[in-house]
Formats: sequence, structure tokens, C-alpha cells
Amino acid sequence: MTTHKIALLDGDGIGPEIMAEAVKVLELVAERNDIEFQLESGAFGASAYFSHGHAFPDETKALCDSADAILKGPIGLSHEESKKIPVDMQPERGALLPLRRRYDTFANFRPVYLPKEIAHFSPLKPEIIGDGVDFIIIRELVGGLYFGKKETGVNDAGRRYVNESLEYDEDQIERIARVAFETAQKRKGVLHNIHKSNVLKSSVLWNEVMEEVGAEFPDVEIKHILVDAAATYLCLNPGQFDVMVMENMFGDILSDQGGGILGSLGLMPSACMGPDKAYYEPSHGSAPDIAGQKIANPYSMIGSVAMMLEMSFGMDTEARNVWQAMQSVFGQGYSTPDLSKPGSDVRMISTDGFGDLVVEELRKL
Ligand code: NAD
Ligand code: IPM
Ligand code: MN
Repeated sequence: MTTHKIALLDGDGIGPEIMAEAVKVLELVAERNDIEFQLESGAFGASAYFSHGHAFPDETKALCDSADAILKGPIGLSHEESKKIPVDMQPERGALLPLRRRYDTFANFRPVYLPKEIAHFSPLKPEIIGDGVDFIIIRELVGGLYFGKKETGVNDAGRRYVNESLEYDEDQIERIARVAFETAQKRKGVLHNIHKSNVLKSSVLWNEVMEEVGAEFPDVEIKHILVDAAATYLCLNPGQFDVMVMENMFGDILSDQGGGILGSLGLMPSACMGPDKAYYEPSHGSAPDIAGQKIANPYSMIGSVAMMLEMSFGMDTEARNVWQAMQSVFGQGYSTPDLSKPGSDVRMISTDGFGDLVVEELRKL
């Protein structure tokens, strides 16, 4: 029997609530395939800081090092609560970015996927959203401003200042370009390159390398769009996109806009791929505003499991089944509260209610 070791990092806020539902799905997948998932939990995030004195404790690093894949819940505290942790130890800087750096997970896949059955969840007008959307944002995840040099201090005039730099070298751009072109080649043969080359020198180099790599992919058409305009097109005509590639911060922002187009960040899973290791996480945060209420939408976490089954374990059929099971739960008129207003014509369900129904649907496939 094949064994896959999976490190589970529940994280903070709604993390443990949505992770519990993802585990139900993993257990069923293991049960009906000749496979064992060895699931081991590790402390990670603000909760780890309070329990272990570090947001990414050494034992969690060892667990992740030894795992075949990592499934991670969101981390982070509310703006106010964050102040209880020193700035550099806060879970974003103290755990998440170090996790990305440790495994060099440069390629972040954030699908913005709204099939027909759930197109009604989009806040966009029916004439714009049509039968739904299906595009993918490929975000460079370990470069740019988030990983550049940072300096703070007091200048000669006695004023506080900050200086942080946006750095990329051509190898970093080339490898994400290759991932993007390969993805576009497998899909519709169109790649939207999102940039800001009218201002940023980093985008000038970015575009140059994109064109160079593009020459190796004559069957893929590359279309260059300035990031500010892209934000508008995403609202006005999201259906024009299929594969979008962009640097780290643009991808952070536009992928959350993707969640807005779908109707909730709770519909946004993701995969973070490195040369040797991948981890999977929802694109959203720990949602402190709804934590502990059992109303979080676990779709993003279960969708991250589907991505893991496909991308780390080659279990394409089961991955498709997981997506289909989630669509059919929503297709039957169920909704978590993030996607519908109270009193609307839906059968409102809790976090675990959704997970149970997904498992029930999955059993039928
Ligand atoms: P957020 O993504 O946590 O929440 C934004 C909004 O989306 C909130 O109204 C929230 O209730 C809603 N939402 C998010 N996920 C949902 C789900 N699964 N179901 C239903 N509703 C959902 O963003 P925020 O409030 O700005 O950030 C909270 C914390 O999360 C911060 O500390 C931030 O740094 C952190 N964060 C972590 C990650 C990560 O771990 N990858 C990603 C983004 C933000
Ligand atoms: C995300 C998050 C993170 C990011 C934060 C929490 C560091 O917003 O995964 O989108 O900016 O990448
Ligand atoms: Mn983000």
C-alpha cells in the first residue's frame, strides 16, 4: 500500500474549523483507494507562538521536512490582537513567509473557478458572469517586495523612514514564466501577463523575460495588461481570462479580487509549488470576524485537498470527484452564510454541515 505523509498545519482563527472538514475528505479518499494518508499535525501561526514561543517551531519544521505534502490552514490575528506579538514574530513574517522561503514555493496557483451550478454566488450581474468563470492566477510567491531588503530608521532630518525593495532576477522570472506558459499551453493557449512596466523597472525586466520564454512557446499567445487596468477588466469582463501570471504583490491583491468575483474568499483554494515540496492552503486569511462560529466556508480548504491529490499525488480522478462533490452540494441549493443573505431562498449550512454533505456526495462518485 502506498503511504503519503501529510503535515497538517491548522493555523489560526477559522483554520482548525475548516481543516477538520478537509480531514474528513482525506479519510474517505484513503479508505476507498489503496492508500494510506499518514496525517500529522504541527503547531504553526499565532497559536504556535503562544504555545511554543515561536510561530514556526523547530518540531513543525522537522515535520514539514519529512512530509510528502503540507496542508495548511490560514494564519494570523486581527489587527488589534496582532499587537500582542512582536512584529517580526507575527505569524505572517514569523511563519508563513519562512515556510514559503524554506521550500522555495515560487509558483502559487490560485484558481478562480465558478462553474455553472454556483454562478449565482457571484455578485456580478448575470450578463457579466454568464455560466461562471474559470481562470487561474499564477502568482510568483517568493520574490518581489515581500522578500526584498527592508530597512527602517531615522533619517538625518530626524524623521522616521522605511525603505523596502522590490527585487527580481531573471532566473526567478524565468522559472515562473515557464510554469505559466506550460499551464497556458495545457489550457486555452492564451497567457495574460500582468505588469506595471510604465512605472516599475522590475516590470520592464519581467516583461522582457516573459517575451524571451514566450519564444519557446509559439503556440501560446501572450497578452500584456497593466495591473491597474487588469483590476477593472476582472470586474467588467472576467470571462476573457484563462491564465494570468504576475509578481508576488500583484498576485496577492488580484487573487483576493478573484474571491470577490466568486462571491467569497471561502471559494479560493491554492497550491504553492516548489522544486521539491508543495504546500496547499486557502488563499484567504484566518477570518477573525467569524472564527469560532462554525460558519466558515470550508470549500477553500477542501479545494486545496483536491489540488494536493492532483498535483502532489497524481490522483486526478479523485481530485475531480472532490470538486464535483462540492459543486453538487451547492447545486442542491445549500449555502454557507458567506455566500447568501439570511432569508434568501437557500438551505443555510454550517462548516461541518458542508463537510458532511461533501463526504456524502463523494461516496456516490
Ligand atoms: P481574511 O481573508 O481572513 O478575511 C476577509 C473576509 O473574508 C472576512 O470577512 C472573512 O470573514 C471572509 N472569509 C475569509 N475566508 C472565509 C471562509 N473560508 N468562509 C467565509 N468567509 C471567509 O482577511 P483579513 O481579515 O484581512 O485577515 C485576517 C488575518 O489573516 C490577518 O492576520 C492576515 O494577515 C491573515 N492572512 C493569512 C493568510 C494565509 O494564511 N495565507 C492569507 C490572508 C490573510
Ligand atoms: C496570502 C496572504 C499572505 C500574502 C500574507 C498573510 C503574508 O495575504 O497568502 O495571500 O501576502 O501572501
Ligand atoms: Mn492575500
